[in-house]
Amino acid sequence: MKPKVFVTRAIPEAGLKLVKAHCEADIWPDELPPARPALLERVRGVDGLLCLITERIDVEVLDAAGPQLKVISQMAVGVDNIDLQAAAARGIPVGHTPGVLTEATADLAFALLLAAARRIVEAADYVRRGQWRTWGATILLGADLSGATLGIIGLGRIGKAVARRAAGFDLRILAHDPGCTPEAAASVNARLVSLEDLLRESDFVTLHTPLTERTRGLINRDTLRLMKPTAILINTARGPIVDQAALVEALTTGIIGAAALDVTDPEPIPPDHPLLSLPNALIVPHIGSASVWTRDQMALMAAENLIAGVQGRPLPHPVPMPPS
Ligand code: DGY
Repeated sequence: MKPKVFVTRAIPEAGLKLVKAHCEADIWPDELPPARPALLERVRGVDGLLCLITERIDVEVLDAAGPQLKVISQMAVGVDNIDLQAAAARGIPVGHTPGVLTEATADLAFALLLAAARRIVEAADYVRRGQWRTWGATILLGADLSGATLGIIGLGRIGKAVARRAAGFDLRILAHDPGCTPEAAASVNARLVSLEDLLRESDFVTLHTPLTERTRGLINRDTLRLMKPTAILINTARGPIVDQAALVEALTTGIIGAAALDVTDPEPIPPDHPLLSLPNALIVPHIGSASVWTRDQMALMAAENLIAGVQGRPLPHPVPMPPS
């Protein structure tokens, strides 16, 4: 008999095919994630769970699933929606999809940086609204990249990939990452500095840290005030790293120049949120890893983790677990 698994959404076919070949799979059919009661119901008795960042996987879910649950496989690199401590306490391994989304996410961070610096969305709207009447010497002026300073908070895989792109645009690169050595930073032409120095000196600040208790609210009323009034904040990491109310205040009062966000708190951002009415805020719907190749690889890795877990083998792409 094949092991039973619950897959919380249709994932790209490459991964789904693999899951179906090895498991008896219950696949949530809707575009929206299962509501909490449905999630608790559908995990009952499964051997494996393949989930997305939209599901909160906590003690309640693990209890609802039951003691036979052998693996949690998330189709994402970030796992802040999963209670790792609770999973570790039950000896349940958690899998994720590191590496394959590095370049796509760095591309998006850079696309947002360029779009905000050169006011691309504002400019496109200006044309669409029929406001383009002439070439004007002072119309829609933006910021130069060449010679400016980019501050990268979190110099892991994605932060380094952003730094490699930045070198091609002649940006000076500062980085803040307590876990990174000066040599590793130098390998991507970045210089490690304190968070305060990075915020004070950077023209662009881009976030690439995981969401942890240490990074939650890292960009807040106080830290925003350290930034230049012309600075642009880019977030492709996790919404709660930024205190969003403080960001609205900073963008409306000229404490910083602009923000470009792929992630918000909450997600999706409510359509009437004040950020959406600000011309200096650019928001896209968490699409950092949304390229065809990347999502195929993520689906494959998630399927591989799921299958290894239900078969009792070590996961090929495990999340480092906290001590239980
Ligand atoms: C991740 O993988 O953590 C992204 O946020 C979604 O691709």
